[in-house]
Amino acid sequence: MVIVVIGMQWGDEGKGKFIDFLAKDVDWVIRYAGGANAGHTIVYEGQKFALHLLPSGILHKKTKVLLGPGMVIDPEQLQKEIMILEERGIRCEGRIFISDRAHLVLPSYKIQDETSDAKRKFPIGTTKKGIGIAYAKRALRTGIRVADIFELERTEIKNETDIAFIEQHRDFLCSLSINHFLCIDALTKTDKVMFEGAQGTMLDMDIGTYPFVTSGPTALNGVYTCGVPTSSIDEIIGVVKAYTSRVGEGPFPTEFTKDEEGLRTFIQTEGNEVGTTTGRLRRVGHLDIPALRFASKITGITSLSITHVDVLDSLSDIKICIGYEYKGEVIDYVPTATSDQETLTPVFKTIQGWCCDTSTITKWDDMPKEMREYLTIIEDFVGIPIRMVSFGPDRVQTIVKSGFLQEWL
Ligand code: IMP
Repeated sequence: MVIVVIGMQWGDEGKGKFIDFLAKDVDWVIRYAGGANAGHTIVYEGQKFALHLLPSGILHKKTKVLLGPGMVIDPEQLQKEIMILEERGIRCEGRIFISDRAHLVLPSYKIQDETSDAKRKFPIGTTKKGIGIAYAKRALRTGIRVADIFELERTEIKNETDIAFIEQHRDFLCSLSINHFLCIDALTKTDKVMFEGAQGTMLDMDIGTYPFVTSGPTALNGVYTCGVPTSSIDEIIGVVKAYTSRVGEGPFPTEFTKDEEGLRTFIQTEGNEVGTTTGRLRRVGHLDIPALRFASKITGITSLSITHVDVLDSLSDIKICIGYEYKGEVIDYVPTATSDQETLTPVFKTIQGWCCDTSTITKWDDMPKEMREYLTIIEDFVGIPIRMVSFGPDRVQTIVKSGFLQEWL
């Protein structure tokens, strides 16, 4: 059985939490895009783990993880992450593999990322991890893949710091590298395989709010870089946060306004809305249904899973954006030009909050009536059923609708 988990907003939806939850007894978890720009936080038995490059399945003892061919990898960061896990008692040996087709992020890329973004007419506010540069070099065919580290003379790499960096990390990379075909062959013979997306659909180069996006494929398109046939995918889970957040620049129609400062601070604090990678405070706003509907349709998800619902516990009413006013009419899709996205005025529906502590809910039927209504409204507008709900950061604070993924769980 093959499952894909994708972010439906601008990243930080809490994908890592569901991936970790679903990764028990899973043979392989494959991260298919991005690099150390991502930050997946997982809480298990009171311990908090922040992963940037390693797939979120790594916390399960028997699960193997693959850093896929569509990723851009900083070996120094990867080595650090593995060391931290080992120090905290997570045995990683023999469980981590890197596709030999994945590209590397070199030291000069990070410097270039920072300087080039600062020079832009409209800076994107990148994570400065060299991601855009690595993907650009890949497209220009001047990048370096894991398989190329033994034949630098055949590459375009000239910077001495970059060369020394590759030499320093050669043995480490070599110890984890795997021929991509052999890996795909192995994983198609196993029972349970999960693909882990990074960032969110609205940050995708093709589908997202270009140019305020990342450079890797963040939607379903990234799965195909791994060479897995579409027909083998059984479930595509779109992860959505109960409100919206965004890091960096770019249009954000439902962002809290100046009149909503109190709500902004409340959500940022209760939702711990601080970037795992950059430490930047995240921009926050109301749930944006047109953007969610757009992301859901375009990626073809088969179900939705929602996180951070508990953050809304004490609100007496909750506003959901159900459309945008645009050029004198109400639309339910996202226009393409940045200037059009900037002029959208959200149309809200206000629903009654549930006003109770949900952090200890363990059964679907125990959800307060108002919360079930809230979920139904989302399902009706988006046209996709919600199958998992997360009420807090811990693995156990997750409920699954009966019948969902019966063969998997
Ligand atoms: P880059 O991926 O570092 O090039 O950054 C491009 C844009 O994507 C910036 O607005 C970043 O803040 C955003 N971004 C990149 N990775 C993440 C993520 O994991 N979560 C949220 N935003 C991200």
